[in-house]
Amino acid sequence: VSTEPDATRKAGSPPSSSPAPPGSANEPSSRGWRFSGTLSNQIRKDILRFLDAERDISILKGTLKPGDVIHYVFDRQSTTNVSENLHALLPTTSPMKNRHYQRCAIVGNSGILLNSSCGKEIDSHDFVIRCNLAPVQEFELDVGLRTGLVTMNPSVVQRAFQDLGSARWREHFLQRLRGLGDAVLWIPAFMAKGGERRVELALDVIRRQRLAVRPAFPSLRLLDAVRGYWLTNKVHIKRPTTGLLMYTMATRFCEEIHLYGFWPFSHDAQGNAVKYHYYDSLTYGYTSRTSPHTMPLEFRTLSRLHALGVLQLHTGSCR
Ligand code: CTP
Repeated sequence: VSTEPDATRKAGSPPSSSPAPPGSANEPSSRGWRFSGTLSNQIRKDILRFLDAERDISILKGTLKPGDVIHYVFDRQSTTNVSENLHALLPTTSPMKNRHYQRCAIVGNSGILLNSSCGKEIDSHDFVIRCNLAPVQEFELDVGLRTGLVTMNPSVVQRAFQDLGSARWREHFLQRLRGLGDAVLWIPAFMAKGGERRVELALDVIRRQRLAVRPAFPSLRLLDAVRGYWLTNKVHIKRPTTGLLMYTMATRFCEEIHLYGFWPFSHDAQGNAVKYHYYDSLTYGYTSRTSPHTMPLEFRTLSRLHALGVLQLHTGSCR
């Protein structure tokens, strides 16, 4: 199955008499969307030739010792050592072993979720994946509350929790982690150098407070494998985003995959401004050459898969 974005055909395009405003895209239409089990199975099989998410979702305890040297995935010449904390928190078996779900939701962090009223719908899925420890409580109506797996780039500890630099920030972080119950906390600890102190801060809280969250640390081969799958299918992404990584991995565990909060554009289809994140005021150059990602290309690819019934992209209101 070719996942190459088709430049001549966009999923759910409105008639050409209503061009999308600058900085926006055409909204994939939910009308008449039907799940294609056959195509989804084919894609699952194709992805399995590159990675097995049940295995690659985390390095396991038996494979490392404290002090082992690891080369960063993006900075091969830089190394770090496996800390006591990290080793202690490595899972002994895959945190997604034998997990299979009928319907999964993957929640990206776009401001398109604001005023969507999608919370209930998101929570109605059998498994909910979220990104970068995004807050839910204050946004329950639009994003829901349930979380089965959440990612946390090391930079989040600095960006959203001020490197736990005061009692107030430590408490805030602790509450966010407590709210996750026993969800999988997926930490790409060995991707880029510079994050080790932040990972350590987070792991220290998890250990000391004996939190129920289950940390997982992606295998060193995952990123290249995911990228390899998409490049082989002629989708010329730079570095896959967390959202695309989650979709690629979720095909292993989920029959039907629904994406919310994926909208890498500054405006919606009606021309209204859309925040980069639903929960903060960060801005982002979606098409900037310096960005490590190619989000609009990823979105076009996901739109095409939506049109084929392989996944459903929800970008409108759930009311
Ligand atoms: N996303 C999107 N549109 C946005 C914001 C996010 O489609 N306006 C998707 C992307 O796939 C992104 C995911 O939601 O990876 C999670 O968002 P975020 O936490 O902002 O990811 P980043 O930190 O920007 O990027 P990454 O973790 O992928 O490096």
